[in-house]
Amino acid sequence: MRVLSGIQPSGPLHIGNYLGAIRQYLDLQRGNDAYYFVADYHALTSVRDAKLLHQYVFDVIADLLALGLDPDVATLFVQSDVPETTELAWLLTTVTPMSWLEKCVSFKDKVRQGLSAEHGLFAYPVLQAADILLYDADLVPVGQDQKQHLEITRDIAERFNHTYGETFKLPKPHILDSVAVVPGLDGRKMSKSYDNTIEIFDDPKTILKKCKKIVTDSVPVEVPKVPETDKLFGLFELFAPTAEITEVADRYRAGGIGYGEVKTRLAGHIAARFAEARERRQDFVAHPERVHEVRQAAAERAKKTARIVLDRARVACGVS
Ligand code: TRP
Repeated sequence: MRVLSGIQPSGPLHIGNYLGAIRQYLDLQRGNDAYYFVADYHALTSVRDAKLLHQYVFDVIADLLALGLDPDVATLFVQSDVPETTELAWLLTTVTPMSWLEKCVSFKDKVRQGLSAEHGLFAYPVLQAADILLYDADLVPVGQDQKQHLEITRDIAERFNHTYGETFKLPKPHILDSVAVVPGLDGRKMSKSYDNTIEIFDDPKTILKKCKKIVTDSVPVEVPKVPETDKLFGLFELFAPTAEITEVADRYRAGGIGYGEVKTRLAGHIAARFAEARERRQDFVAHPERVHEVRQAAAERAKKTARIVLDRARVACGVS
């Protein structure tokens, strides 16, 4: 199956991104024809600094390679390396009713958060539809928050097909396992916009410093606690080995374990989990030409597929 998904380059990836999505992308690269791309056109709706955007794009590629994305197996490319995307987005725009975009929750949310309502932000779902349809994707793994965008993608594809004849394959959404809702430092969902993240490639010292900041209640050490409702334990559980999880849970219930100890042990586990990836990442930073090679080879592969589908769409609607 052709699996496709995009990642917005908007700063270093955090452990919530890893457990919520990236780990699952890595699993899906095996046995499938996987296309993953860095959505820099989309990022233009929020990043307004060319140097920074270049840096973010490089970072995402280096992060994914370091975490185990295999560029010989999966096609890891940059959205803007295939400018065919924007042409298809225009063709799709002409069959997309305004009302579909007006009801988009993520548009309304972003405006509420203070992003100004540019046309690009409004048309964001159409560009996303182009990303997906351009590669005849079968399966699109995304988080729950992208479900509406995928519905619009299917609606747009159906409308184009209905207007001009069968042109696009209808992609299936694959909503990622949300078992791993990762709590952030303040107990809310880990998210860049809450400024409560631990980055995958933070060095062990920074990880420890951040873990020490995890917000807890002020129940004294000796008093029994309920692990299931404690956000710190929730994080610990995601990184510690099973035997340790049981041990710490028992000590929560019995009383006698301090949050400080749990935080220190948690930091150790997070640092250890990503130790190898951290080393591999340093290699890529020392040899940026390797990242560029991957990028270039992937762009060529992606372009080949894109060209075929775009030409099909151009012929269908009469601009070839
Ligand atoms: N909008 C997605 C997000 O913010 C990123 C994205 C862009 C994407 N194009 C895509 C995801 C195509 C899946 C398929 O996470």
